[in-house]
Amino acid sequence: MKMKIVACIGATIAVTILSFSTPDRLFAQDSRGPIPLVETHEVMELFFEHEFETLKAFMQKEPTKRSEWKGIFNGANELAEAHNLLFFRDDEEYMETDEWITLTVAGRDSTLAVATSVKARDFSVIKSKYSAMVKSCNACHEEFQGDEPEVIEE
Ligand code: HEC
Repeated sequence: MKMKIVACIGATIAVTILSFSTPDRLFAQDSRGPIPLVETHEVMELFFEHEFETLKAFMQKEPTKRSEWKGIFNGANELAEAHNLLFFRDDEEYMETDEWITLTVAGRDSTLAVATSVKARDFSVIKSKYSAMVKSCNACHEEFQGDEPEVIEE
């Protein structure tokens, strides 16, 4: 009897550990392409929030050094690339709508425009592109997050 209980507890622990270490969805779908591994709020926290804070810090004053211009360029490129992760989210039904794709494309384009504008080194132009980018973050939040959307500040 005791052995049975021990075996049963052991099996439960093994199943629990396995279910944490191997996400089912990785095997349930064709993994030879992009698949969502974490939920969208985690994508936002891990990639968008972190990269946005880095970019925002560089945008607070006109760069004087090459490394500061590069900081804006790299930050915007990272954030633009991160938008690609939004094309294949599936934790909410609205992520399969045309509206979601349209706002993702708009966000990606406006973020890339920040990076592209760095070349001319005109800070007022870069700032206006950056404002448009922040608007695109908020446009998606307002569309899909109900009454209390996440507000991104410049
Ligand atoms: C195409 C839609 C879309 C775009 C574009 C978008 N977001 Fe989001 N964001 C979301 C959604 C949806 C959530 C809420 C996810 C949830 O709670 O399930 C979210 C949540 C967040 C959060 C809160 C994360 C948390 O802690 O839960 C942050 C921060 C954030 N977004 C930053 C940004 C920034 C910065 C940009 C622009 C550079 C951006 N987002 C662009 C859809 C978008």
